Amino acid sequence: MENLYKISPYRHMVVGANTKVPIVYGKMTTAINLDNAATTPPLISVMNKINGFMPWYSSVHRGAGYKSIYTSNLYESCRDIVKEFVNADPETYTVIFGKNTTEAINKLSYRLCRASKDSIILSTCIEHHSNDLPWRDKFTVRYVDMDSNGRLDLNDLRRKLRRYKNKVKLVAITGASNVTGYVTPIHKAAKIAHEYGSKIMIDGAQLVPHTPVNMRPDDKNEWIDYLVFSAHKMYAPFGTGVLVGLKETFKKGNPDYCGGGTVRIVTKDKVIWSDPPYKDEAGTPNMIGVLALGESIKTLNTLNMDKIDIYEKKLTHYALSELMKIPEVEIYSSKDMDIDRIGVIPFNINGVSHEVTAAILSNEAGISVRSGCFCAQPYVQRLLGISEKDMRYYMNHPDDVRPGMVRISFGMYNDINEIDILINLIYKIIKNRNMYLNRYYNDKVYYKAVQATKYSI
Ligand SMILES: Cc1ncc(COP(=O)(O)O)c(C=O)c1O
Repeated sequence: MENLYKISPYRHMVVGANTKVPIVYGKMTTAINLDNAATTPPLISVMNKINGFMPWYSSVHRGAGYKSIYTSNLYESCRDIVKEFVNADPETYTVIFGKNTTEAINKLSYRLCRASKDSIILSTCIEHHSNDLPWRDKFTVRYVDMDSNGRLDLNDLRRKLRRYKNKVKLVAITGASNVTGYVTPIHKAAKIAHEYGSKIMIDGAQLVPHTPVNMRPDDKNEWIDYLVFSAHKMYAPFGTGVLVGLKETFKKGNPDYCGGGTVRIVTKDKVIWSDPPYKDEAGTPNMIGVLALGESIKTLNTLNMDKIDIYEKKLTHYALSELMKIPEVEIYSSKDMDIDRIGVIPFNINGVSHEVTAAILSNEAGISVRSGCFCAQPYVQRLLGISEKDMRYYMNHPDDVRPGMVRISFGMYNDINEIDILINLIYKIIKNRNMYLNRYYNDKVYYKAVQATKYSI
């Protein structure tokens, strides 16, 4: 492996890359975060921007003072940064800021639900719960199936669009899976959806932080109608999510939340709503979160999303190829390196439960991973081959430990060094499986003691 990749060229750009955390035997070690699909650390540039701005911080859209006008202008300029980042035409698209991807999808679901209840949303069986549950109570939801690799089946998308012709209000699919990392061919899917008169929404929570996204490629049929994503997964914490969508959609109807900032005129019995996006941003907006996102995008643009994508793919291929060498490791995504994916790999070590593996990685080497079903239970159940009968059992025993997986997921600041530490520990776990099982599974006292050390930092 080239030297360049032993240490990430982006490592020095994030806050906390060298933070020490407590591990077993009272030792400290440098934390390794392989849980970037959940959330990423902030960029140093983001923190500097926020600190530099704080003396100017004031109300957004609510004051006549200099600072307030400055703050409001800065807030608005972040909408332009987002539009440019995803190539959304300012005339036809609006950018609505909210809390996160989940809120953005809920917002769209409320806005679209003025259609009749038997309108269909075509979601897929590989979605995060956030792109499944918000649709269920307002629409009839049908699920596009996956192929034998667990990838979205575009033929089934076409089949279902044909079957429910003229009824499908929206195709709502993920841009990249938070379970397997598979990247959806979003423009192909858009073309198919549009062919059948449907609009398309891409859940970009896992896509936008890792690869360039273009909402308007050359072929108009391939345009993306709605895109949602979260700032906290792209190095900008502070609680901002984005809904980029066709302005037209948000001109009509009432907002899901209303109050200050959403109206032009209010009398005792009449309301004239503001134009989008203001109508959909009730209350004082999250200036710091939006500024953080704007700055993060600026930094990512400077670094170049294509280069970030290439770097993260190299990391992913390296980790995948190392995991594939270990017969005791079961990988739940395709081993084909040519498949387009972001840096997410789901796996288990034979004979060690997902949560015990996660506990060992954290307590023995300071490695953070996610274990369980990653808020995508139906997809994980399918990949693990859990039967409906088994699921009925778990429905009746919701407190039982359920099957799941371990997930590693990369950000641009991760590197080969960290993957090597992970792989070496996996070999150690396999070699000393009984000792580790005893420590972390049977000897709960030991396990709890280690957890307690962590919480007492
Ligand atoms: C694919 C996908 N969609 C939606 C979400 C929800 O994102 P948030 O928790 O920021 O709302 C996540 C979070 O992990 C995700 O991975």
